[in-house]
Amino acid sequence: WRTLDGVDVVGKRVLLRADLNVPMHDGQITDRTRLERLTPTIRELAAGGARVIVTSHFDRPKGKRVPAMSLAPVATALADILGKPVAFADDCIGPVAEQAVGRLGDGDILVLENTRFHAGEENNDPAFAAALAALADLYVNDAFSTAHRAHASTEGVAHILPSHAGRLMQAELEALDAALGHPQRPVAAIVAGSKVSTKLELLGNLVSKVDVLVIGGAMANTFLAAEGAGMGKSLQEPDMHATARDIRARAKAAGCAIMLPIDVVIARKLEAGAPSETVPVGAVPADAMALDVGPATVSVLSDGLGAMKTLVWNGPLGAFETPPFDRATVALAHTVANLTQAGRLVSVAGGGDTVSALRHAGVLDRLTYVSAAGGAFLEWMEGKSLPGVAALMG
Ligand code: 3PG
Repeated sequence: WRTLDGVDVVGKRVLLRADLNVPMHDGQITDRTRLERLTPTIRELAAGGARVIVTSHFDRPKGKRVPAMSLAPVATALADILGKPVAFADDCIGPVAEQAVGRLGDGDILVLENTRFHAGEENNDPAFAAALAALADLYVNDAFSTAHRAHASTEGVAHILPSHAGRLMQAELEALDAALGHPQRPVAAIVAGSKVSTKLELLGNLVSKVDVLVIGGAMANTFLAAEGAGMGKSLQEPDMHATARDIRARAKAAGCAIMLPIDVVIARKLEAGAPSETVPVGAVPADAMALDVGPATVSVLSDGLGAMKTLVWNGPLGAFETPPFDRATVALAHTVANLTQAGRLVSVAGGGDTVSALRHAGVLDRLTYVSAAGGAFLEWMEGKSLPGVAALMG
């Protein structure tokens, strides 16, 4: 894939595929991270004299115009962050979009309405991709977080216009390559979260790539129960026990060490401040559930990470939204941040809850790279080729 290095954009109409799919509640944006991370590319293009046409989906309107899923408020927030005017076009193709693009001067910025208001976006309809491409001279994709979708604005357009990776896409791809593509070894992965069933492909891919695989969260309960440990009322998947044993066997064959908790924090209720205690695994009473990994586990993991050169992290170790069950995640996040800041560890984290957990721990800016991608980050960890990235290679 090509970066923006050395690309002359003066007077060019640049279609910038961004991910403006920000979390919104009651019409208010609740997290601006994705917008903030987009600004280097927008500023660089605008400063270079491009006419910047930002395009994105928002939410899942399923090919229909849903007013509550308009990108207009996001365009306003973007203008606020950039400290510059940002125009808005009420459609992403056709006369409305063409006229809005026609009004742009060099260095101006325009946001187009939600691409998913047209069914052609998700169908990757060539006519829709051609209509988008007709607005611009160049295509820049800065939306790694939506690169797992083979849609017209993420994939189709890249085959029509000269295409480049934006600075955010570039940073993301470089960080991911450093973590799993060509990592410094030994490399560890922490995979946690509630279900083994949703992370099967990811675990299967990782056992052949990493030296140490740490399993935490409720997923670990399934692995522990599969080995016969009594887990009381802990969240786990009995129908995944055979699969868990199979993953362990595959890891062993591949020379990947699997690390499971040795102690857990238990409670009778998942409630903030609920009375809790730490017990060794295997000693969870029948009426209690494991809600976090325990301090002995954190200590073993922290020591183990000291011997690693690279870490990929997806998923909180416990029920971090409900203190005190955030302790292990917060403690380990600090260890990872400290090792990273000391230049001893390349640390890359991503996927939905992981970003919230790292923000909660206050270390979001202290890891090597934290991806704001959810599904795309997981598909990358599964070893899949992402259509939006693959299309930039052509
Ligand atoms: C995301 O938020 O993960 C991306 O914007 C993709 O959104 P989607 O899952 O609706 O395709």
